[in-house]
Amino acid sequence: VLKQDVAAEVPAGVFAETVTFVQHYTDRLFRFRMTRPESFRFRSGEFVMIGLMVDGKPLYRAYSIASPAWAEELEFFSIKAPNGPLTTELQKIQPGDKVFMRKKPTGTLVLDALTPGKRLYMFSTGTGIAPFASLIREPETYEKFEEVILTHTCREVAELKYGFDLVDEIKNDEILSEIVGDKLKHYATVTREDYPFQGRITDLMGNGKLYADLGVPPLDPAIDRGMICGSAAMLKDTKELLERAGLTEGANNKPAEFVIERAFVG
Ligand code: A2P
Repeated sequence: VLKQDVAAEVPAGVFAETVTFVQHYTDRLFRFRMTRPESFRFRSGEFVMIGLMVDGKPLYRAYSIASPAWAEELEFFSIKAPNGPLTTELQKIQPGDKVFMRKKPTGTLVLDALTPGKRLYMFSTGTGIAPFASLIREPETYEKFEEVILTHTCREVAELKYGFDLVDEIKNDEILSEIVGDKLKHYATVTREDYPFQGRITDLMGNGKLYADLGVPPLDPAIDRGMICGSAAMLKDTKELLERAGLTEGANNKPAEFVIERAFVG
């Protein structure tokens, strides 16, 4: 598709935004940014449908918005799914290209879906870190919680880099670093390579190593809140551990002690 043809092909009721930045982390992961429509509003942690023309038809997949609600541009963190119909094309995008976005954001990984607490855990695996990339840059997160713990588990060390880049970006931002202070703790582990921190997050919760490493008491429903984003199996196992600790699942219309969302693969 020639770039000048895109305007003619934009489906009705959809934004067509311009890619401004692309960064490839590994042969499985990349991030990109695109322009944000003036009228587009969302809550930090929500997702939206992103698409491209594939074989002459618009094809969409759900993507968590990785940038915070106040940001000028929209950021996304994507897998390159082997034979994935959308990501096979999406991984080729370059600055200047157009990407489609449906107009309505949604999702349960939002601060409004949690009851007040002191410590907020964000449990993620793989690209499940994306909604938390948004929420750790959201000032309201630090108004509502005294301590924020972002856990990220991947198969390999190279896949953790996006998380470390995010934390560096916060440290290097004058305004954000002031807001975040020392409230944010980043706990990164891998499962299939040598690294000082190893293991599935569920195992590290089960054997208490997570809490020992962080110097915090085990989960307490009176003060701890949780958000979970990863594969279906990871959600199920992490949810079970939170429920065993006495936390109950919430939703937008019924805030409670933890919320979950599937990390979308496409
Ligand atoms: P593992 O290497 O032991 O499978 P994936 O890329 O398959 O989504 O995996 C991302 C990370 O999530 C990997 O480190 C993987 O560990 C871990 N993981 C997979 N399944 C679960 C689960 N049920 N609970 C916790 N972590 C999991």
